[in-house]
Amino acid sequence: MKRVLTRGARVPHQQAMAEAPKKLHIKTFGCQMNAYDSERMAEALGAHGYAPTDDIEVADLVIFNTCHIREKAAEKVYSELGRVRAVKRHRSVRGLDTVVAVAGCVAQAEGQEILERASVVDLVVGPQSYHELPWLVGRVGNGERVVATDFPAEDKFLSLPERPLARVHPSAFITVQEGCDKFCTFCVVPYTRGAEYSRPVAAIIAEAERLARAGAREITLLGQNVNAYCGEGPDGADWSLAKLLRLLAGGPQIERLRYTTSHPSDMDDDLIALHGDEPKLMPYLHLPFQAGSDRILAAMNRKHSADDYAALVKRIRAARPDIAISTDIIVGFPGETDADFDETLALVRCIRFARAFSFKYSARPGTPAATLPMQVPDSVARERLHVLQRLLEDEASAFDASTVGRKLSVLFERKGKKPGQIAGRSPYLQAVHANGPEGLIGQIVDVDIVSAGPNSLTGVIKSEFQWREPVQAAL
Ligand code: 5AD
Ligand code: SF4
Repeated sequence: MKRVLTRGARVPHQQAMAEAPKKLHIKTFGCQMNAYDSERMAEALGAHGYAPTDDIEVADLVIFNTCHIREKAAEKVYSELGRVRAVKRHRSVRGLDTVVAVAGCVAQAEGQEILERASVVDLVVGPQSYHELPWLVGRVGNGERVVATDFPAEDKFLSLPERPLARVHPSAFITVQEGCDKFCTFCVVPYTRGAEYSRPVAAIIAEAERLARAGAREITLLGQNVNAYCGEGPDGADWSLAKLLRLLAGGPQIERLRYTTSHPSDMDDDLIALHGDEPKLMPYLHLPFQAGSDRILAAMNRKHSADDYAALVKRIRAARPDIAISTDIIVGFPGETDADFDETLALVRCIRFARAFSFKYSARPGTPAATLPMQVPDSVARERLHVLQRLLEDEASAFDASTVGRKLSVLFERKGKKPGQIAGRSPYLQAVHANGPEGLIGQIVDVDIVSAGPNSLTGVIKSEFQWREPVQAAL
């Protein structure tokens, strides 16, 4: 007999588990917030008897959690859907049903269109409706094809399960803010994730405590525009991100804090000061600037000039001189000339980024920039991206080289690729490999950095207290 859930209803955990266990396969594309959402979906469905699997062939429910930020990302889901069609067919020959769901920003942006374009899809669910997944999947079980793309952001967070977690990754994420009111003219986020919404402080603290109990040592606060955070505090007042971070830093279990992604206009004095006086706040800041030409920045509706950005970085570095700054840059925005692009290169040289993500402009349907005249030819944009990326690689290598010879505290997160190796992150978010016992995973350890490669640093763990190199026994 098929179980029918009512909207918002919660099936008692015991009852759900008593039924035959079902398998859930989630494939995640895009940003860290999607990765966070995928975990929450797995949790919500886990409470209804779905066990996660990496093997798509055995999955009763397949969810593609998609990204719509650039065309390439959005198109990926359709090639995935082509592949899952064959899986669904094979399974149905064996008498097995497969529910295929598209979640995330493509779901939100394209809705019904996905059902029309891909007959294999049973369910389209936008980021604000994940708490309804068990109910929505139930509707599919009753023969419906469902689109759920409403926008009640608060419900999503209120309805997350509160069961204790099994062990979590030493570096965990919490979404504290979602959506964006900035409306950069190239960006789909204000349309796919909606208006800015900040979760209340108490809910975030509860989630941080839950993660810490399960083994998290580092927490990264996530938001599309995280430094615009403005959530209800325990005193009923609106709290800023700096105030939230200060409270989290007071908790004994969490030893490292990060936040991403920030908009330059929302870096307030308090947040800048916090980088100077809160040791748990890691010296790394992702601060997109997008373009170095004021003309292009205005056309992008970025609300800051190139000089504003450089002055802001100067103030942040005055508070925390060693801070690693990373950024996002777009080349080939409509109307961008060689001279505009040179200004982007000039700003990059002026700031000296520790890390950067650079993209060729991609016209997104429904955004104001998509209809601007003077779209830049692809070959020109490609060449600019190539030139920019070479410069950014040089800067990243210079930053990494500057940390060779230093002792850095590394949070070890996983086994390395080579036997005997463990891998983690420095305070500056650099990947670090070192020889050491797996017992150090989940610990923060002082590591002497001995060399820098293209993708990671190599370190040596010297402290006897922490780890002694194995002595070759002379037999
Ligand atoms: N084309 C290219 N890059 C984009 N980004 C956002 N929208 C677009 C687009 N239409 C980039 C921005 C943003 C990052 C997440 O993706 O640099 O900061
Ligand atoms: Fe998109 Fe970021 Fe601009 Fe918001 S601030 S519209 S998320 S690029």
